[in-house]
Amino acid sequence: MADSSDTKPKFYLTTPIYYANSRPHVGSAYTTIVCDVIARYKRMCGFDVAYLTGTDEHGVNIERAAEQLQITPQELVDKNEKIFRDLWKLLGITITDFIRTTSEEHARAVQTLVRRTIERDRSLPPGERAIYKARYEGRYCIYDNLYVSDTPEPADCPTCGRPAELISEDNYFFKLSAYQEKLLELYREKPDFVRPDFRMNEVRSFVEAGLKDVSISRKTIKWGIPWPGDPEHVLYVWYDALISYMSGIGYGQGSGREGSPKFTRYWPADLHMIGKEIIRFHAVYWPAFLMAAGLRLPEKVFAHGWLLFEQEKMSKSRGNVAYPEPIVKVLGNDALRYYLLREVVFGQDGNFSRDSLITRYNADLANGLGNLSSRILTMIASYCGSVVPNVADSEAPSRLLEIASEARLQGIRNSYSKFEFSEALIQVWKLVELVDKYIVEEKPWTMAQSPADSDRLGRVLYAAAEALRMISVLAHPVIPDATQKIWAQLGQPGKLAEVRIDQLTWGGLKPGTRTGKSEAVFPRADKQEASERIESMEQEIRNPRSTEPAAGPATSAVPASTPTADNKISIEDFAKIELRVGLVKSAERIAGADKLLKLVVDIGDEVRQVLAGIALAYQPQDLIGRKVVIVANLAPRKMRGLESNGMLLAASAGADGQPVLCTFAEDIPAGARVK
Ligand code: MSP
Repeated sequence: MADSSDTKPKFYLTTPIYYANSRPHVGSAYTTIVCDVIARYKRMCGFDVAYLTGTDEHGVNIERAAEQLQITPQELVDKNEKIFRDLWKLLGITITDFIRTTSEEHARAVQTLVRRTIERDRSLPPGERAIYKARYEGRYCIYDNLYVSDTPEPADCPTCGRPAELISEDNYFFKLSAYQEKLLELYREKPDFVRPDFRMNEVRSFVEAGLKDVSISRKTIKWGIPWPGDPEHVLYVWYDALISYMSGIGYGQGSGREGSPKFTRYWPADLHMIGKEIIRFHAVYWPAFLMAAGLRLPEKVFAHGWLLFEQEKMSKSRGNVAYPEPIVKVLGNDALRYYLLREVVFGQDGNFSRDSLITRYNADLANGLGNLSSRILTMIASYCGSVVPNVADSEAPSRLLEIASEARLQGIRNSYSKFEFSEALIQVWKLVELVDKYIVEEKPWTMAQSPADSDRLGRVLYAAAEALRMISVLAHPVIPDATQKIWAQLGQPGKLAEVRIDQLTWGGLKPGTRTGKSEAVFPRADKQEASERIESMEQEIRNPRSTEPAAGPATSAVPASTPTADNKISIEDFAKIELRVGLVKSAERIAGADKLLKLVVDIGDEVRQVLAGIALAYQPQDLIGRKVVIVANLAPRKMRGLESNGMLLAASAGADGQPVLCTFAEDIPAGARVK
């Protein structure tokens, strides 16, 4: 740790750790971008910021996603974790720490916390202990990792609506019921423990209604962290995941009683930023887990709203996602960041649409700030030889006084501090308009025609450039790339990120500074063209042409063979694949697997059992009697404990890669070779 960071006040903030069962979408990027704006803002206010994100890599949904792709859970999370990290780099996210729940240090931290809780329990009578063992029977949603009901009767998940699965086993329980009063006391003492207000009220009512104990271990699942001293059990994925907020900064590491010096410095977290759907885990379970272990509680949990796409929560399982990478490639990183923070009133749900994204980009960024900065810099280049004019009086002129006014600056800073990002941006863009108007009214181009006006011209251009400098500082947390470019074009040294936003005052621009070349920071986008480019890149992500057929491996086409330099295979390679006509004799669904069907297929000289990932596209009864194409010499493999002996060929159609089975127009006997 640098010496200077020791003397600064610390600020530790976290995003939720994201499920690594699929790649991130704009909804997942939203929380990370918001936290990045806060992290940058806090640093510009002189804080030593630790900013943690990571990936949640355990649990049934990871296990099942891997099974469908016929790879191990570890391979799946390794692949997706990299996509998350690459995206955060692309979006300019200034995280200081990244935690994976499959890492060794995380497992150690989780086990340390369990042991510590059990140790504290020893001094208590059995009935008061936080952790105890008992029989569990209930319904559990594997997609949301949520206990849906504590009785065995069928029930649907309130979050995703799917039928929850029956769980019946011996579990370790956490005595949440014993924490009701302590939690209510916490909310009384710290009324802003949960933000916004209405969420605090929701949480309080939930706790007042009484709390049930929660099971925190699993016996049927293997993909998790073993329970210390009882490795038949793994830890419940939420107990495991929440601890990442501590393991990510060194809990359970080093020689200290609680963890590394880094943990001692940064814990407790100053802010857990989360989506509203996971508020109970953070505002009820998490503080109770920490109380039971005798650890300090986070300062604040802020639950924001959802980003909606076509009126529904953007989420992979609903299939209505937009991906950030194409937007960044077409419009730039700042465009997405600005749009999300300006468009959504933070805390509430907000709509995402490509149309409004491009409209806002053109209006506020290209025509707004981008145009203003190139105008000012071009005039300084043309009329002042690329040197900030020397002015006798560098006071803000009356028309721009608002920019320099402490009240205005404080208003913008307050909005940032209260996480009212769209309000902060509205205020900053008012300044953009003000400077624009100032230039239009002063008409520097007319003054430039008359030598007698040269002092006035200098004053006007100085004021415009200084206002632009201040606007760059104020907008930097949200649009770091463009403002850094403007900063450099204004001839300002170093990193804008190191400038103190809380000490910003008029007059920081030194007369005589050489300005750089004016380059467009936000080139105007042709709406249709930009939209089409984004759309086509999104299609490529949803349905990659090269490696992963969207129908999934159970129906995917030929296995990879040796590619030549231009990615072609030889005829000998192709001949290795034995394709045969198969006649479907029977077809049925597999309990607990929404995508898989179990088929019995006659391939002429034998009858095979084949599992195919086509259940969302085909009804079992419609398949009986159909002729299909089978990869007959594929090594058998197991899915859901069932053997699959061959693979069906299918095309992958449409945006969501619906499988369409290969078949024949002519009558053809089962077993015929397809060549
Ligand atoms: N792994 C858990 C969190 C464990 S934290 C100890 C989880 N992961 S998640 O990937 O499903 O969602 C993580 C977060 O992504 C949400 O809480 C939310 O912050 C963000 N979002 C995911 N979809 C979103 C939208 N459509 N809109 C806004 N935020 C969204 O839950």
